[in-house]
Amino acid sequence: MKLHIILIGFMGTGKTTVGTIIAETLSRQMVDTDQYLEEKRGKTIPDIFRDEGEARFRDCEHNVLKELIQSPKPLVITTGGGIVLRKDNVKLMQNSGFVVALTASRNALIERLQHDASRPLLQGDLAQRIDRLLTERRNAYDFAHFKVDTTDKTPDEVAQIIVAQCQQHSGVFKDIFRRQ
Ligand code: S3P
Repeated sequence: MKLHIILIGFMGTGKTTVGTIIAETLSRQMVDTDQYLEEKRGKTIPDIFRDEGEARFRDCEHNVLKELIQSPKPLVITTGGGIVLRKDNVKLMQNSGFVVALTASRNALIERLQHDASRPLLQGDLAQRIDRLLTERRNAYDFAHFKVDTTDKTPDEVAQIIVAQCQQHSGVFKDIFRRQ
């Protein structure tokens, strides 16, 4: 498959870990939108949120996505959990790659994120924050071409499932994108 493989999903669903394995398996470069933005700005995501606010972060995130999908080399692109909040991002992703949504149960998310202090939107009561965001973002990831529930799977298992899907659907997707 010559298209970008784009991983979306809520925080804690394992996008970066799984994306790294997929990239190694397919000998592709992986780029994470958050990491790329941090390198570009020389500033961490929490610092961008604190100094410039979420709206500015979302603009930067959009610009990074726009830049990455223009890469002539097919990439594995992993994204921040909120990238799906903007309709223009959804369009860009749908039109430029095989979009895979990772999901996980509420309890798995709480367990995976409980020792994490790096996510500005999860500061405070973790379970409450997760519940609120899950409600706000209900259906936000549904536009993906393919979904994998990561709850009881290892990152290797999730990556294998995605690689198999990419290989299976590569012909179908080539046709769809050729027609656009
Ligand atoms: C966010 C998710 C984070 C990061 C930022 C906002 C979100 O990325 O982009 O803290 O709105 O869900 P991860 O999904 O990689 O944690």
